[in-house]
Amino acid sequence: MSMEISTTLTESPTSDAALAEVLADPGFGVHFTDHMFTVEWTPEKGWHDARITPYGPLTLDPATAVLHYAQETFEGMKAYRHADGSVWTFRPEANAERMARSSVRLALPVLPVEDFVAAVDALIKVDERWVPDSEGEKSLYIRPFMIATERFLGVRPSQHVTFMVIASPAGSYFKGGIKPVSLWLTTEYSRAGRGGMGAAKTGGNYASSLVAQQEATANGCDQVVFLDSEEATYVEELGGMNMYFVFADGRIATPATGTILEGITRASIIKIAESLGYTVEERRLSIDEWRDGVTSGEIKEIFACGTAAVVTPVGALKWDGGEVPQAGDGSSELTNKIRSALVDIQFGRGEDAFGWMHQVC
Ligand code: PLP
Ligand code: COI
Repeated sequence: MSMEISTTLTESPTSDAALAEVLADPGFGVHFTDHMFTVEWTPEKGWHDARITPYGPLTLDPATAVLHYAQETFEGMKAYRHADGSVWTFRPEANAERMARSSVRLALPVLPVEDFVAAVDALIKVDERWVPDSEGEKSLYIRPFMIATERFLGVRPSQHVTFMVIASPAGSYFKGGIKPVSLWLTTEYSRAGRGGMGAAKTGGNYASSLVAQQEATANGCDQVVFLDSEEATYVEELGGMNMYFVFADGRIATPATGTILEGITRASIIKIAESLGYTVEERRLSIDEWRDGVTSGEIKEIFACGTAAVVTPVGALKWDGGEVPQAGDGSSELTNKIRSALVDIQFGRGEDAFGWMHQVC
């Protein structure tokens, strides 16, 4: 199927002056473009009524299913402006495929990959002037999401579903730019369990992370680290990022537990690191291995990665009663090398050797 998309443009577009002010310092997730994309689904009609309309509030009946049972999935991706003015997304079909997997887990209908990509492209084209220039590595953060919109309080999969795409110009996710993020290890809360929703990108996982994130903040840390829920031993991921450990002998390890979100940045770093000659291990990695490896010098760098955070060095790890300092000498040499290789591809400064970039306009 290829979707027909109708377009109704806003009668009050953001002025050039107001837009310039936003793009000069976009922050993260606070400003939104002039339009949004919407398509509806019912069992009878399938996906229908695809449209771009002016950005604005939704009117939802108080009995709308998503408000009660959190049947929803979302994605996070970015559009990058290259030096010649063209605009590109990074592996959009990977986001579409992950949303399809998340949707299956949440008993939501699957939006075909080509329709997901067409929806994202259509919104970017209409709001192209909101894509910042690449100075300071700013980009347009894209947030596709799918929600259960049936007005019904019974607990069963919604018979009306809405998929939308909104977009927001983005600078650095962390205030203060690229500096090591300090981590809080939660010993009380888990993000995901066996048979749960850990591998799905769904709001409930983020809702359940917030109390642990609150604990992290209260303890002066930027982000929370979750361990596996069964043994509270193996490192899973951060609230909104995957993790990597760099060993002195050239190995790089990233947790693989089946209950983490399969990050597209994480998957791309595996390919980049291998092409740089490193051996990448996807495996379980215990909190003891982290502590002992940093102490002995065997682990020389730790970094976090994700669409919003890109590649960010990890600083000290704290928990109730203990602390592990930042790994290595703080030079973050390989972290920076991988970060540069990735953002050079995204911003069109480096060769797209893996065929990851998708031109939008
Ligand atoms: N893990 C979690 C919990 C996330 O929210 C994200 C961000 O999307 C990631 C990992 C990294 O995924 P990606 O690289 O696809 O953005
Ligand atoms: C992303 O990196 O896209 C995320 O979704 C992380 C966070 C903003 C939820």
